[in-house]
Amino acid sequence: MSYRGVRESAHDPTWGLESKMKSLTNQDIRFSTAPMMDWTDRHCRFFHRLMSRRARLYTEMLTTGAVIFGDRERLLGFDPAERPLALQLGGADPGELAKAARIAEPFGYDEINLNVGCPSDRVRNGAFGACLMLRPDLVGDCVKAMKDAVALPVTVKCRIGVDDQEPRAALFALAERVVAAGGDALIVHARKAWLAGLSPKENRDVPPLDYALVHELKRAFPSVPIAINGGIETIEQMRAQLEHVDGVMIGRAAYHNPELLLEVDPSLFGEAAPLADGFAAVEAFIPYIEAQLRRGERLSSMTRHMLGLFAGKPGARAFRRRLAGEAVRPGAGVEVLLSATDEVSRAMARMAEAASA
Ligand SMILES: Cc1cc2nc3c(=O)[nH]c(=O)nc-3n(C[C@H](O)[C@H](O)[C@H](O)COP(=O)(O)O)c2cc1C
Repeated sequence: MSYRGVRESAHDPTWGLESKMKSLTNQDIRFSTAPMMDWTDRHCRFFHRLMSRRARLYTEMLTTGAVIFGDRERLLGFDPAERPLALQLGGADPGELAKAARIAEPFGYDEINLNVGCPSDRVRNGAFGACLMLRPDLVGDCVKAMKDAVALPVTVKCRIGVDDQEPRAALFALAERVVAAGGDALIVHARKAWLAGLSPKENRDVPPLDYALVHELKRAFPSVPIAINGGIETIEQMRAQLEHVDGVMIGRAAYHNPELLLEVDPSLFGEAAPLADGFAAVEAFIPYIEAQLRRGERLSSMTRHMLGLFAGKPGARAFRRRLAGEAVRPGAGVEVLLSATDEVSRAMARMAEAASA
């Protein structure tokens, strides 16, 4: 049955929900953390949420196959505190994407995002991700199918082109189809992906960034919320981008230096930070960690996302070494995290003492 057929079924729980359709404002996408496979799992997101109330968080990409056939609770479940939270889907079949979006909707996500940017082999073989830049009409069909299936905003995260595509033509053609299909926002990783010859990691660094092209896209689509992604690392750089686009999406800089998130609410939203510093973040994370340990999770599943905490501070290296070495041991508990954090407190106290001597 086509996705339209599914939509029109008498059993369709979204039937008649048009009036409840949710949309996105520019403010919703002003700051987000990027979807990152194996990194932005639910533990990471809970930890990030402690440091910014306003950041929009994205899941790792889940393929439609995983959502439709996999363990839904394990894959899609999350803590309500993580919201606002977007689910990123990988797929290229409108019917399957519609089905996956409908399965996900009752979990409480705030947005469904389609991955049109990932260049890995696995994604290439499935003919989705970045290679969809070559098929803007199909992307439009995918967006429309999901919009018809759920009341959630549907967005697309894309590149500015792949291989030898002319970036302006490729990006604008994609944007036109997404907007015509009712897409609620575009997030543009401002570099091409090379489908052959570069590893996924190289594809995040090697193709040059073209921020100006994304700024031009915003001028061409003034009423569409547009966020920019790629290589943005500081609050100053975010502020500069926000002069041209509605939102910034930050990946590696936030993951490797989570304290950056503490600056987001004050600097970009004019609101107080939820916590004072990295030490307060450790303290605030502990009840969650304890609850997860009781459920049988390993300490390292949570603390692996904290290795970048205290980056650049005295004792940061000892913090990382202790956490990386000791949190993986069977039975490791929060005392490992506390003693690793002590390394930083002691190193900072020693430095303060030396400065006042
Ligand atoms: C470890 C890792 C995994 C990633 N996984 C995804 C993914 O699942 N979906 C996606 O759209 N992008 C993925 N990306 C790309 C990021 O979302 C982002 O576009 C890229 O890192 C550029 O932004 P940045 O320079 O702020 O890190 C991944 C990046 C990294 C580093």
